[in-house]
Amino acid sequence: MTQAQDIATSPADIADESRQFTLLVNSLNDHALYLLDPEGIVRSWNRGAVKVKGYSAQEAIGSHFSRFYTPEDVEAGVPWRNLRTARARGHVAADGWRVRRDGTRFMASVVIEPIRGGGELLGYAKITRDITESHEAGLRLQEAQQALLQAQKMEAIGMLTLGLAHDFNKLLTVIVNSLDIIVGKNPDPRTARVVETAMRAADRGVLLTRQLLTFGRGQELASERLDINGVVRDSAPLLRRTASERIELRVDLAPAPLVADVDPSQLQAALLNLVANSRDAMPAGGRITVSTALVQVSAPDRPDEPPRWHVRASVEDDGEGIAPELQARVFEPFFTTKDVGRGSGLGLSQVFGFAAQSGGFARLESTPGQGTVVSIHLPACRST
Ligand SMILES: Nc1ncnc2c1ncn2[C@@H]1O[C@H](COP(=O)(O)OP(=O)(O)OP(=O)(O)O)[C@@H](O)[C@H]1O
Ligand SMILES: [Mg+2]
Repeated sequence: MTQAQDIATSPADIADESRQFTLLVNSLNDHALYLLDPEGIVRSWNRGAVKVKGYSAQEAIGSHFSRFYTPEDVEAGVPWRNLRTARARGHVAADGWRVRRDGTRFMASVVIEPIRGGGELLGYAKITRDITESHEAGLRLQEAQQALLQAQKMEAIGMLTLGLAHDFNKLLTVIVNSLDIIVGKNPDPRTARVVETAMRAADRGVLLTRQLLTFGRGQELASERLDINGVVRDSAPLLRRTASERIELRVDLAPAPLVADVDPSQLQAALLNLVANSRDAMPAGGRITVSTALVQVSAPDRPDEPPRWHVRASVEDDGEGIAPELQARVFEPFFTTKDVGRGSGLGLSQVFGFAAQSGGFARLESTPGQGTVVSIHLPACRST
């Protein structure tokens, strides 16, 4: 077979039967089409192969086709296995990673067919197509579908939680009012103590319901337009106390003001929840960094929308991290890995609900053994 330069020069070429095959093979620009001998040595090389693999015909012809495979596949004997399978079954079709001349990898769709003459194996025909783009598009689609599913699940849990929280609020109001009436009647000391215990439990119930309301986005936000650097700066002493002495807490603020419409007490509560989580993930001590930044990003459940400006407040730790299979669950209300009485599983739900209700989102990145970053993104406002 001839090389890429030997392409049709006149209409007569098309009519010339001896030239037709070469013309056909070399006009397939996006398909590497070549012949191997029975040992796997490259014997021909078309124009598409130059484009797909990056080797010229001179470089490719005469070398073993295993050079197009990844070192891992070569180690595992994949090229030779493919030839054996093609010989035994008459056909191999598979997708896999291949390496271009410049060392970059691409996802290839590969077909290998044995060529026989008089019952004897003469070699193999090989067709390779670069399908990286469609492979990546497929992956992106899968990610988008997963993000959407996750968003729908959180939406459903949010609605359920909101309904529950409203009902509990009504019950708790009745309980608290009744206890108030008993206290007003000057009960004997023993009854007073019992009522006080009941009151404390009811107060805890009110707090829990408030957190559930936040997750279900039913909390009334008292939003103001302010610089979140200021909120973080004001919260720093409280965050330091929460972190405890064995942990170094750094505050790293963006140099310019970061203006957003935000409920400062909710933002402070969220930062507190995040710092408490980081502290719990580092029983032997470590470092927590609270930082702010202005970033241009798309919401995770709307990856196709153009990126927008957000102010971001992040809490990063170098603690134990979260296992990948748990990462999608940690924002759910009551999801906790902590012992009974140590965690109610509502910290990240508050972070999630508050960010979403403020028009933004929360994002978690975590590597087991290395650490975790949780970032609250709020739509940025132009500073006034
Ligand atoms: N920074 C972190 N590092 C490691 N694991 C974390 C981190 N933050 C959260 N987690 C995991 O996510 C779970 C849920 O966190 P969340 O804050 O919602 O609840 P909690 O801390 O268990 O309880 P609560 O916050 O209500 O006291 C935690 O139990 C923990 O397993
Ligand atoms: Mg927590």
